[in-house]
Amino acid sequence: MAALEKAIATLDQDQRQVAAILLEPLQGEGGVRPGDLDYFHSVRQICNETGILLILDEVQVGVGRTGKLWGHEHLGIEPDIFTLAKGLAGGIPIGAVLSQEFCSVFEPGDHASTFGGNPFACTAALAVLKTLKTENLLENAEARGIQLREGLAAIATRFSHHVAEVRGWGLINGMVLKEEVALTAMDVIKAALTKGLLLVPAGPKVIRFVPPLIVSDVEVNQALQILKQVMTDLCSG
Ligand SMILES: Cc1ncc(COP(=O)(O)O)c(C=O)c1O
Repeated sequence: MAALEKAIATLDQDQRQVAAILLEPLQGEGGVRPGDLDYFHSVRQICNETGILLILDEVQVGVGRTGKLWGHEHLGIEPDIFTLAKGLAGGIPIGAVLSQEFCSVFEPGDHASTFGGNPFACTAALAVLKTLKTENLLENAEARGIQLREGLAAIATRFSHHVAEVRGWGLINGMVLKEEVALTAMDVIKAALTKGLLLVPAGPKVIRFVPPLIVSDVEVNQALQILKQVMTDLCSG
């Protein structure tokens, strides 16, 4: 925060040289790091005072991934603009930019692209939004997320020489391996894959868990059992 305040303080009187501050509510590729409430509230305040727009990138955490419709609901702030993609159409390529009325400058057709607004992708997105509601997927993401984090926390305790931390919101979670041990996220991911559990890294030391929002409690338990076995194999001896 101090670095940001210092940077803002060095701005000329004409604040328009900074159009916007762009942040992820939870850093995905950066290591599954949930945003800090105080930090985001301070940034929101700076943006209010200076007229700099606050843009949140919800490509990874939007549309129910965190157990809430938008990731920024965890932070209790409203962005001026936010972006969506990945989960919006359940795997069909699509992206969207949402903005508050006061900074909504595009007229239809201003921001055209070859596949922009294509009916197939838009229909898929509408189906996803409807399914989120009819199948209570926000509630499922929250409940399964708690189950997953509790299970991961138990594994972290059992393998506390190797695991530093478990963190995340809803169904985006990271298990962080200790810097000082040789074990890497890819070691765990490769071993898990051979047992049928598909995981993805978020940097060299963070194993990311991003199951589909329809994941069941039985499947979460299966994943935890496999992970426990993998950790036992890799960490013993
Ligand atoms: C947070 C975040 N923003 C933006 C992007 C890029 O999205 P796209 O591939 O839709 O351009 C990604 C891709 O992984 C992402 O994780």
